[in-house]
Amino acid sequence: TINWVDAAAHDEVPQEDVIGLAVAGRDIALYSVEGEVFATDNICSHGHARLCDGFLEGHEIECPLHQGKFDVRTGKPNCAPVTEAIRSYPVKVEGGRIWLAIE
Ligand code: FES
Repeated sequence: TINWVDAAAHDEVPQEDVIGLAVAGRDIALYSVEGEVFATDNICSHGHARLCDGFLEGHEIECPLHQGKFDVRTGKPNCAPVTEAIRSYPVKVEGGRIWLAIE
């Protein structure tokens, strides 16, 4: 069975924006894109930068340190210098809360 963890209130994530928060001891980034919520690890796979301090454009997050880019839907790298994916997490929105499948 999937272990859903309560991460945040749905309205805590501004539309077309990203926030960072701790969920189950991990640093997680939550994104709101076109009314849908996505979740990935918040730390860039290239260096120690928090993606929530970066720039979200559509489904792409740009790292604030060296401008590497990831697809927030999959965690896949889109642009150098990042070559390694970050982890992405299944999300569901229920009862006004955002739930993540962390484990
Ligand atoms: Fe993110 Fe370098 S730390 S691109």
